[in-house]
Amino acid sequence: MNRKFFVDYVLCVARGAVWGNFVNMRSLQENGDLKVESKIEEAVAPLREKIKDLEKSFTQKYPPVKFLSEKDRKRILITGGAGFVGSHLTDKLMMDGHEVTVVDNFFTGRKRNVEHWIGHENFELINHDVVEPLYIEVDQIYHLASPASPPNYMYNPIKTLKTNTIGTLNMLGLAKRVGARLLLASTSEVYGDPEVHPQNEDYWGHVNPIGPRACYDEGKRVAETMCYAYMKQEGVEVRVARIFNTFGPRMHMNDGRVVSNFILQALQGEPLTVYGPGTQTRAFQYVSDLVNGLVALMNSNVSSPVNLGNPEEHTILEFAQLIKKLVGSGSEIQFLSEAQDDPQKRKPDIRKAKLMLGWEPVVPLEEGLNKAIHYFRKELEYQANNQYIPKPKPARMKKGRTRHN
Ligand SMILES: NC(=O)c1ccc[n+]([C@@H]2O[C@H](COP(=O)([O-])OP(=O)(O)OC[C@H]3O[C@@H](n4cnc5c(N)ncnc54)[C@H](O)[C@@H]3O)[C@@H](O)[C@H]2O)c1
Repeated sequence: MNRKFFVDYVLCVARGAVWGNFVNMRSLQENGDLKVESKIEEAVAPLREKIKDLEKSFTQKYPPVKFLSEKDRKRILITGGAGFVGSHLTDKLMMDGHEVTVVDNFFTGRKRNVEHWIGHENFELINHDVVEPLYIEVDQIYHLASPASPPNYMYNPIKTLKTNTIGTLNMLGLAKRVGARLLLASTSEVYGDPEVHPQNEDYWGHVNPIGPRACYDEGKRVAETMCYAYMKQEGVEVRVARIFNTFGPRMHMNDGRVVSNFILQALQGEPLTVYGPGTQTRAFQYVSDLVNGLVALMNSNVSSPVNLGNPEEHTILEFAQLIKKLVGSGSEIQFLSEAQDDPQKRKPDIRKAKLMLGWEPVVPLEEGLNKAIHYFRKELEYQANNQYIPKPKPARMKKGRTRHN
């Protein structure tokens, strides 16, 4: 609808309402009950607010983007760009001045994560499943499409395998056709339940090929294999990032990962559930550090796999206590029996990233946690106000129990 027509229409309705109220007010005033001016103001105020909202929705403002010359501006495809990591990567590349196409099937991602770019001339959002071939012209491909949390990837293991195998083949095929460079978002899960600590890129891993996590772990391992087959046989330029646990705003609520679990439990005054004695260790990186690492790797000449993670290691119990303190929550910490196959230790060796990319995480844990807490607090407020938020899908694990991911 034409903006001017719409605003005129609303004003006309407002005037009608005011006049109707005015006539009523006069008779009330004659009765000496109420002052006309204050009643008019009362009637007009909500309509004025409505008009303001409408005007705002017509003048969409985007975050500022840099100007890049034709020579420096790249056409970049991000598969899984409406997910947690992908949406932050979209923000960075858009603000750096590139043209970004997000491809997502919205299995775990959502439009809301990238809605602030919709309509921007440098941005495009395509609802597409990477298991189907895609034909577009791009210079770089960040291939992130894949469910990432255990409840999500175990929900439909066959689909997880197809996404990581057929989906990766399709993206490598696209990279080959258009001469694009492809970065695969691989994972620390390729190391499985590691026998070496910390894990460096030369470690081949300790993965159960028929366990409940195999659809994801083996899916990512074969995706890496495919990248190097395409590199050797077809000359496709590939980059492989082995991503360790990452957290931050836009993480899924209730997807069973330890940071989101603890924050939500603490915010809602529920017990923070620790499986086992809480002595298992984890190392978490803040999402902006990961995004900077992904961009640095894509634009480097390092074609072998690179770990991206924060080596600062804490026990699960320490995380629970810290989050409780930062939220200011009175929740108790509840110890439940240990989950099966829960890795006891996980910590990246990031010497290669430091040496070859000049990259290392810079966001302190508490600072990152405070940002994530702020985000989850707002999400809970929105839900309480009944605004539209897709309800987090319930844990979709058919068997087994939540683990510390
Ligand atoms: N977040 C982490 O801690 C972490 C750790 C290791 C690796 N990774 C990897 O990073 C990538 C992004 O993870 P995330 O945490 O942002 O997860 P996410 O679930 O938020 O994002 C994944 C995105 O991929 C989309 N997707 C899934 N299947 C698809 C398909 N067949 N076609 C098109 N889109 C599809 C989802 O809808 C979602 O938007 C994943 O590949 C994941 O394996 C993440």
